[in-house]
Amino acid sequence: MIVAIDGPAGSGKSTVAHAIADRCGFTYLDTGAMYRCVTLACLERDVDVNDSDAVAELARDVRIEFGTDGQGQTVSLDGNDVTAAIRTPEVDRNVSIVSAVPAVREAMVILQRAVGERGDVVAEGRDIGTVVYPNAEVKIFLTADAEARAHRRAVQREGKDAAHDSAAKADAAQEQAILADIIRRDKLDSSRETAPLRAADDAHHIDSSNLGVDEVVDRICVLIDEARAAR
Ligand code: DC
Repeated sequence: MIVAIDGPAGSGKSTVAHAIADRCGFTYLDTGAMYRCVTLACLERDVDVNDSDAVAELARDVRIEFGTDGQGQTVSLDGNDVTAAIRTPEVDRNVSIVSAVPAVREAMVILQRAVGERGDVVAEGRDIGTVVYPNAEVKIFLTADAEARAHRRAVQREGKDAAHDSAAKADAAQEQAILADIIRRDKLDSSRETAPLRAADDAHHIDSSNLGVDEVVDRICVLIDEARAAR
């Protein structure tokens, strides 16, 4: 079974998808991490992110692998652990430009579909239910208002657990900067020509602004059970 979770930055997709993978024994696929890896590779190799041909060539060349350690999922780029390096503000600033390049998306979608062919997958991103797996049995469009999303990201960046600690605070200036970046990325991700952020027609919409992780996960697990029963 494929469970597709799409939504904007900070809507809680990763936390929710992780929890579903754990609960249901599915493989977790973080497609945003893949676009982040290509972006990091550009920055490390001094490839201009506005040079679409060079970025596309690099996207076809990089080796992206997922693994696990005691802390959770790890990501490696050409054999080097980049789990932390793909989450820096510099990558945040450039990833929407890189992920808007059609040939980059083509290269990533091939890799993503290959994962889906190997078994049960819960995948999260922007175009999972619309482009990568249009036949996914369960499609979720997870949203939250921009302020709630910026707060979660700011808390996460300080190493705290935004998902389970609703009272956690973050530095106000940092939170404002993240909010501005989230609004900018939402706009870019939603307005690009290729595979824009958009809910599939048959997606279930869940607004997580005022919901805890467990509530969101419970709702999706009910949908998974219903999809299994309907087979
Ligand atoms: O989910 P995230 O913030 O890690 O994603 C990083 C960027 O990658 C995001 O700005 C949009 C892009 N992305 C995409 O275009 N398509 C996907 N399936 C996943 C992410």
